[in-house]
This record gives sequence, structure tokens and C-alpha cells, in this order.
Amino acid sequence: MREKLLNLKNEALAQIISATDPEELEHLRAHYLGKSGVLNQFAKELPLLPNDLKSETGQLFNEIKSAIADALASNSQASIPKSQNFDSSLPGIRPPLGHLHPVTRAIDEISSIFEKIGFIRVRYPEVDWDWYAFESLNMPKSHPARDDWETFFVDAPEHPKLGKIVLTPHTSNGQVREMERLGQPPIRMINIAKCYRRQSDVSHTPMFHQFEGLVVDEGINITHLKGTINYFVTHFFGLERKSRLRPNHFQFTEPSFEVDVTCDICLGKGCKLCKEGWLELGGAGMVHPNVLRSGKIDPKRYTGFAFGWGVERTYMMKSGLKIPDLRLLYSNDIRFLNQF
Ligand code: DAH
Repeated sequence: MREKLLNLKNEALAQIISATDPEELEHLRAHYLGKSGVLNQFAKELPLLPNDLKSETGQLFNEIKSAIADALASNSQASIPKSQNFDSSLPGIRPPLGHLHPVTRAIDEISSIFEKIGFIRVRYPEVDWDWYAFESLNMPKSHPARDDWETFFVDAPEHPKLGKIVLTPHTSNGQVREMERLGQPPIRMINIAKCYRRQSDVSHTPMFHQFEGLVVDEGINITHLKGTINYFVTHFFGLERKSRLRPNHFQFTEPSFEVDVTCDICLGKGCKLCKEGWLELGGAGMVHPNVLRSGKIDPKRYTGFAFGWGVERTYMMKSGLKIPDLRLLYSNDIRFLNQF
């Protein structure tokens, strides 16, 4: 009975709110509150309930009856006849306008910056084989480097050659896939996709986005990597921001780097919010010959560079954007999203 009453209330209120003329409203009043109306039918059944339910259900019944009566009384718009209600000289009411999610905007901006210098935007599976996510990237099974990617494995049968199925922990799975798609260089791809890792705190969400660049051709060297990074940094963050490469290690690049960008507050001088003036953007390096071999590209003839950075992280390093908790981006709280 309780559930029936609650359903009745929802249905009645929805109808009353959407009623647009007094006749309709009168009809609803008779249907719900009239002598032989629905609520009176319920009232007849109340005394038949077991004692322990009687008072509780009775109270709910009364609340619902007055909620319906209040709604009928307050739908004043509908109780004025339409002809009196309509003033054609009044300005129209604008429907509220939304906007794209900040991460979608960042993705659009990043793609268009790279497209201007000839990179092709691609997308590869976000649920992929171990081979593409790890093994083809010079990370054989049980290699300790894999621990850095806190990977979700899918409970599904293993492929005899490609291995297990994972939720992609990075967009680097697109590298060998792009080599296979094109068959041979030149390659200039920008792969932007969702990634998943077992992590959740103020600066990590279990689902996030990365953008992965890959360039392979004859004669590609570190100056091309550095030039591309500089181009991106000045176009995305502004002319006053600088980048630097810091030696690091990744299995799929040799040499490997961590890319830093000058802090948006102190512009490299050093302040309380950064490490000596620099903020970490993400990894990059020269494609390892084993990765080229996985994609059936001859490393004696071709060389390449790659980079992979987090969209959310990169976006937060734009000047003036300080988001205290990255998880807010995915909380769908309109008060937060309205600020962008
Ligand atoms: N895939 C790495 C990560 O998720 C980032 C990365 C580093 C991508 C170096 C690259 C690279 O393409 O060359 O941490």
C-alpha cells in the first residue's frame, strides 16, 4: 500500500505540474480528491490494514492528500484561463544554455593544435589486448615496469598470441596499432582516448584521458621532439610558458624524458605551488627499436618520437585554473561545471 501511495503521489504531482488550463486542473482535482476519487478508494482500505501498519500508512495518506491539494492550489498559471495569461508583447523566455564539458573542450583544443601541424587524430580500443598495451611496447610478461600501470584486467579468455584483455592503462596501445594501420611511415598520429587505472585521490581518477603523439619517418631525431613540444606548449599554455626535457626511463623509448612546463604562477622563478618553477607534464622519448619491430617497421631505416600526457592534468596546468580535486571533473555537479 505504501508503495502504491507513493507512486500515486508522483503520478498526480507530475500531471498537476504539466496541466496547462483550468479545465484540466479541475478534472485532476475530481480524479484524485473527489468523492469517488482515487484517494477516497484508498481511505476505504485503510481500516483493513493490520494494526502495526495503520498509523504509519494513515500518516502517509494524509501527507500525500495535502501535497496533492497544495499542488492543485499553487498551479496558479494553469488556473488563469489561457487567453488572460498570454501577453504577446512580453520578451520571450530564453531556455538555459549549457556548454561542452571542460575535458571535451580540452580534447578539441589539443586535437586542433596538433592537426595544424599535420598530425592525424585517431582513436583505438579502450579495451585492448595485453600485446598492444604492454608486450609490443617492449614490456614482456612479468616485467617489473608493468607495475607502474595499475591495470584492470578483464575476466575473459586469453588470446593465444595477444594475451589477456585489459582496460587500456595508457594511450600507448595506439602506437603499434597505428603502425599496423598504415603499414609504413610516415606516421604522424595523435591518439586521444580514455584510460583506466586502479587509482582514486585528489590528483587521480580511475578513468581519465591521455593524448599520445607518435611520429615515425626517416631522419627523425630529438630536435623534432623538442620542437613539437615547444609548439604545443606555446599554443596551449601561452607564449610566456617554457618547456624542458628531463632524463627518465620508459621501456618503449630510448632515450626517455619527462617533459616539464614552467609554472603558471611564477613562470619558472620558483614558488610555493611548484617544484623550483616547473610542473610535470608527462613522458616522451625516441621510439625504442623493439617497438618499431613490433609494428614491422625497420629500425635501421626509420626512427621516431612519441609522447603521452594526461588531458586532465595538462588542462589543469593552464594559467589560472586551480582545481583542488580532480574527481570534481566527473562528479557531474552543475555548480562546479557552470564555472567553466
Ligand atoms: N604511456 C606513458 C604513461 O602512461 C607515457 C608515455 C611516456 C608515453 C613516454 C609515450 C612516451 O609515448 O614516449 O605513463
